[in-house]
Order: sequence, then structure tokens, then C-alpha cells
Amino acid sequence: MNIPHALKFLGKYAAHPMRIGAVCPSSRFLARRMAEAVGDLKEGDIIAELGAGTGAVTSELYPLAAARGAKLYCVEFEPSLAKILTGRFPDAIVANDSAENIGKILGEENFGRVRAIVSCLPLVSLPKPLVAAILDASESVLPAGARFIQFTYNLARSPESLGFKKMAHLGVSFVALNIPPARVDTFAKRA
Ligand SMILES: C[S@@+](CC[C@H](N)C(=O)[O-])C[C@H]1O[C@@H](n2cnc3c(N)ncnc32)[C@H](O)[C@@H]1O
Repeated sequence: MNIPHALKFLGKYAAHPMRIGAVCPSSRFLARRMAEAVGDLKEGDIIAELGAGTGAVTSELYPLAAARGAKLYCVEFEPSLAKILTGRFPDAIVANDSAENIGKILGEENFGRVRAIVSCLPLVSLPKPLVAAILDASESVLPAGARFIQFTYNLARSPESLGFKKMAHLGVSFVALNIPPARVDTFAKRA
């Protein structure tokens, strides 16, 4: 674990617990599982990460995107965390913005190239209208077959509780080596 990033993260959690939603960054095991769930990628594809924080999951997505000639977008609401991401991942497009603006951030002309949205957002603790707007915007930018990947610490949560209208649940996997243990749910946009 990167100690300065972990301390920065903890400070943000102390100030905004509901918005940060975790006391420390994701482990590399959880980050890897999120990246594995992205599936096949080809040149020109787009991955969008929502709630990238200090870059714990980004550190797995970044080399994956680079290896396949794909483009990585990172959306992060906290300005100081977005600044860390810009410094760590120079080839990624970092948007210091809120996730419900994902359509505007990507640009409509790019929607057909989005292969996956990787969400690290604390959907359980964010306001319900904001969550609904984020999920709606995500469904709008994903073409048929593209994925939405979400982790949560609520191991018993049913994937249906997210409230998607156009996504099918592909599967779940559990990551014990994380504080706290997490589940990763993968969805695909219906044709
Ligand atoms: C649980 S942390 C995950 C951080 C990092 N991806 C990780 O896995 O360690 C959630 C992150 O989502 C960000 N966030 C919360 N609400 C957001 C929103 N509406 N738009 C974009 N980012 C948001 C927080 O600032 C925080 O960095």
C-alpha cells in the first residue's frame, strides 16, 4: 500500500465519509479482479472508471488499456484526488467531475467505443437521486454488450438492488483480501 495515498484517502474519508465510502484504498487483489472483469479489449476501445480516488484500481486498468491501445477515462469528484490521478497516469483522461456527467465527459461520438464502466463509487452511501442519475447516465453511454462493473462491501447485496433498467447481471465474485472484504458484480448492456 502507498502510505501517503492511504493517509490522503483517510483524511478525505474523515471529511466526507458518505462520499468517500471507504477508510482506505482498494487492495491490489480487488483492483485486479475489477480489471479482469473488463473482458476483451481492442484498439480504440474506451474504459471509464468512476470514483478513481488515488488510483488503486486505476493502477490495474492503466496498463491494461495501454497494452490494448484503449483509452482510459477517470472520473473523480474530489479535486485533490483528481490531481493525484493526473500526476500518476499521464496518458489517462482525468475528469474532475461528478459521475452522472459521464455522457458529457466522454462525448456522444465516443459512446459506441465504450467497452466498460468500472465503478468504485460508494453507491450504498451516496444520495439515492444521485445514484439513479449515475446509473441512468451509465446505461445511456454503454453500447449493447458493454460492461458495468461495481464493487461493494455489502457481501449480501442483491445485484437487482442497484436498479438498472437495461443491464443483465453476468456474475459475482468475492475478494477476501481487501479491507473490508468485497464483492464484484459484472453487468452487460442488453441488446
Ligand atoms: C470507495 S472510494 C474508491 C477509490 C478508489 N477507486 C479505490 O478503489 O481505492 C470512492 C471514490 O468515489 C469518489 N466519488 C464519490 N462520489 C462521486 C461522484 N459523484 N462522482 C465522481 N467521484 C465520486 C470519492 O471521492 C472517492 O474517491
